[in-house]
Amino acid sequence: MSFVIVLIILSTNLLLQPSTIVVSLEFTRDDFPSDFIFGSGTSAYQVEGAASEDGRTSSVFDTLSLGSRSGGFTGEVACDEYHKYKEDVQLMVDLGLDAYRFSISWSRVIPNGRGPINQKGVEYYNNLINELISNGIQPHATLVHWDHPQALQDAYGGWTNQQIVRDFTTFADVCFKEFGDRVLYWTTVNEPNFIAPIFYKSSPYIAAHHLLLGHASVVNLYREKYQATQNGTIGLNVYTSWFIPEKSTQEDLDATERVANFRIGWFVHPLIFGDYPDIMKQSLGRRLPSFTEYETKLVNSSFDFIGVNCYTASVVTDDPGKDGMAANYIDKDVGGVFVQGVLEYFKRVYGNPPIYIHENGFRTFRNASLDDTSRIHYLNASMGSLLAAARNGSNVRGYFQWSFLDLFEIDGGYTYGFGFYYVDFNNHDLERSPKRSAHWYSTFLKGQRSRHNGIIHQMDNSTFMS
Ligand code: FCB
Repeated sequence: MSFVIVLIILSTNLLLQPSTIVVSLEFTRDDFPSDFIFGSGTSAYQVEGAASEDGRTSSVFDTLSLGSRSGGFTGEVACDEYHKYKEDVQLMVDLGLDAYRFSISWSRVIPNGRGPINQKGVEYYNNLINELISNGIQPHATLVHWDHPQALQDAYGGWTNQQIVRDFTTFADVCFKEFGDRVLYWTTVNEPNFIAPIFYKSSPYIAAHHLLLGHASVVNLYREKYQATQNGTIGLNVYTSWFIPEKSTQEDLDATERVANFRIGWFVHPLIFGDYPDIMKQSLGRRLPSFTEYETKLVNSSFDFIGVNCYTASVVTDDPGKDGMAANYIDKDVGGVFVQGVLEYFKRVYGNPPIYIHENGFRTFRNASLDDTSRIHYLNASMGSLLAAARNGSNVRGYFQWSFLDLFEIDGGYTYGFGFYYVDFNNHDLERSPKRSAHWYSTFLKGQRSRHNGIIHQMDNSTFMS
């Protein structure tokens, strides 16, 4: 096998101008460890639709979609996977996926967040899980993909109130009991480091603290009550970027360290070391909650794996005037190498924990042409970088492309898509059609050689974390 990456930076000003990168990669699936999992993902509100059907109530994600960010679109119907899951599982079979990452809507299973269970909701996820398993596809389930019930937000302020820890644990208990005989990969929360600043602009550190305690309480429950018999694994997901200094000055290097700690360390440091990073404690003082001795024990080591979402690199500049982390960062196209950059960071700073890349993907304008060569180049470069990291000793266990279908995105609704499948929202049946990237991934998954030479273009203004 030959594995070659040639990066030619054509732009003279690396830091200010979009760069164009010529990439040539060659690898096959056999180059990855034989038990490495390849999948693709979605989340409940973004794909299911049926938002007001069979007893489901609204979540904070529904509410967020009513704002201007999504351009007037919502997930009320989305891709209607709630009704079309059988068809979608067949498409997964066509693709050759090992695994499907989806999330369970809390407000579908327990409308209003607490109280009686909605059997229709339980039935839906049982059907989906059974359909996946009978088609040889592993279910990887997330309990909260941004979408805790709006009722809990209204009742007590959602994650700002410690009461949610108990309600979240009860919801998780229902999921483990109902689905845990078949679901072996559980993620408690998707991107708590996005949820806290986006949904709780005035109290992100308090919300984050309860997200961590909720996560740890759920892991503790799983370990005490279910893991020995169900034999599954459980972890937390975080949004990441490969943070790199704009200049190699001490100021920018220190700023990069701070940003990585404020963004990734905020959640990962407590899981590995039982406390927040010193840098955060020093600069935030009493604004950052502290862990009691009991909480430290609960949070420390509360994971079997860490789920990592990574889409890009970010260039960091020092900004002493900026409250908290005293730095700014902006997304930067550096080709696929950021995947290895993130994985090397986890290896160096956090002792190489088991990792699943839960999300990596490329946004394009959604159009019916089905020719998404730019996505192929992006994925090819990312997966090449993933392979380089695995070869360099990273403890990475799997890779999920975002997203399986073009679905509802909070930024722009249905204007953009990340999907392998185009969804025709004008067609009554929401017909799905495979893009070129679907054929490409399928060819790779089915063991044939992937070979692409071409140009990766600058990602279009996607700043997922501001
Ligand atoms: C991530 C989210 C996912 C999707 C992608 C584009 O931050 O986890 O739901 O919207 O961004």
